[in-house]
Amino acid sequence: MNLSDSEIVASVMLANGYETTTDINEAGIIFLNTCSIREKAEQRIRKRLQALLPLKKKNPDLVVGILGCMAERLKDQLLLEEPVLDIIAGPDSYRDLPHLLEDAGDGQRGINTILSKEETYADIQPVRLDSRGVSAFISIMRGCENYCAYCVVPYVRGKERSRDADSIIQEATSLFESGYREVTLLGQNVNSYQWKTIDGTVNFATLLERVAKINPGMRVRFATSHPKDISDELLQSIAANHNICKAIHLPVQSGSNNVLKRMNRGYTREQYMERIEAIRRIIPGCALSTDIISGFCDESEVDHQQTLSLMEWTGFDFAYMFNYSERPDTLAAKRYTDNIPPAIKEKRLKEVIDLQQKLSLNSNKRDLNKVFEVLIEGPSKRSPLQYSGRTSQNKVVVFLKEESKPGDYVNVCIEKYTSATLIGEVI
Ligand code: 5AD
Ligand code: SF4
Repeated sequence: MNLSDSEIVASVMLANGYETTTDINEAGIIFLNTCSIREKAEQRIRKRLQALLPLKKKNPDLVVGILGCMAERLKDQLLLEEPVLDIIAGPDSYRDLPHLLEDAGDGQRGINTILSKEETYADIQPVRLDSRGVSAFISIMRGCENYCAYCVVPYVRGKERSRDADSIIQEATSLFESGYREVTLLGQNVNSYQWKTIDGTVNFATLLERVAKINPGMRVRFATSHPKDISDELLQSIAANHNICKAIHLPVQSGSNNVLKRMNRGYTREQYMERIEAIRRIIPGCALSTDIISGFCDESEVDHQQTLSLMEWTGFDFAYMFNYSERPDTLAAKRYTDNIPPAIKEKRLKEVIDLQQKLSLNSNKRDLNKVFEVLIEGPSKRSPLQYSGRTSQNKVVVFLKEESKPGDYVNVCIEKYTSATLIGEVI
């Protein structure tokens, strides 16, 4: 989401006569686009800001700005705490950056953290910052109103709003025409996408199919789905279109009904399992990934064991796993105590990670000797003789280059695997 937002920022700046550089010493303006989801993410930014102080001493004209969720959460408090900063801009104020820069040029400090009910940056053509030119993100909605108890997002990204469907189709079409072969539709909860027109309402299943119909040679992915409202209609759209990728990211957070209730997730363990069964039934061979939080307030050993058993039952192919990090002003911070000792949080998280490692290895083992259609993304990290690409199930595959180039589809037979990568040969 932040990468996608940075591409919008780059576009706003370009339209105002600025350029991007990859050399920090050459930059006259440095923006840090930030995340507040866990305390660690914010601590990392604080360190980066400290590291910029010597640059600013050398070049007093250097302008430093903080963008995104941390700017929104801390607002002008950041100006007091971080003397290096000239600009604070929340996620809905990127169009205002040229004005904020003018303020900074006049020796003032520019701040805009006003959240909007409408802003979707629909008319802004993002400048693609990932130069491989194969896969791109398209932001289809902003904000979130689910208020999961642990989560800061509704406070820092504002009300949920969907972007004009036609502008999404146009952006995807123009990406395909400039050589892109994969788009990922982004939103905090894509299942509640809704765009009203005089002809009726476009929901997420319809939008996804419309994007898929642009060209069968362009893959479509999406993130993130909420288990409480992933519909059979959406699953049927995925099953019916070869180029809609067979991979669903469905964050479960916990396997315990007590914890899910306190988290305000809006589903039970049983309802989550029912959705997994629907996915298995409607889209055979669909990969499943998830997010898990260990050590949420009052989580007991029994609750933790239920998370492990749900992971095992589902057999996730991949997971993002975190320790609970209390965020100021969230429902959990107000209602509950962050009472799981750090050592126990660590121990539980390690058990979750170790189990996922085993599940990922099993999942990759199941792919042995099977043939997958792989979209080539570019040279592999390890060897210039190899390419790296992805299967529809979103697994990374590396193989010897042969007569192909990034953006091509090749059929690869899997010969070896690790828990993170499949290794194969083009057939
Ligand atoms: N502590 C730990 N993890 C969190 N996430 C969101 N808020 C928190 C928090 N306070 C995780 C959730 C979410 C993912 C994007 O980040 O698992 O799905
Ligand atoms: Fe946060 Fe819940 Fe919204 Fe996801 S759905 S962004 S976890 S509040």
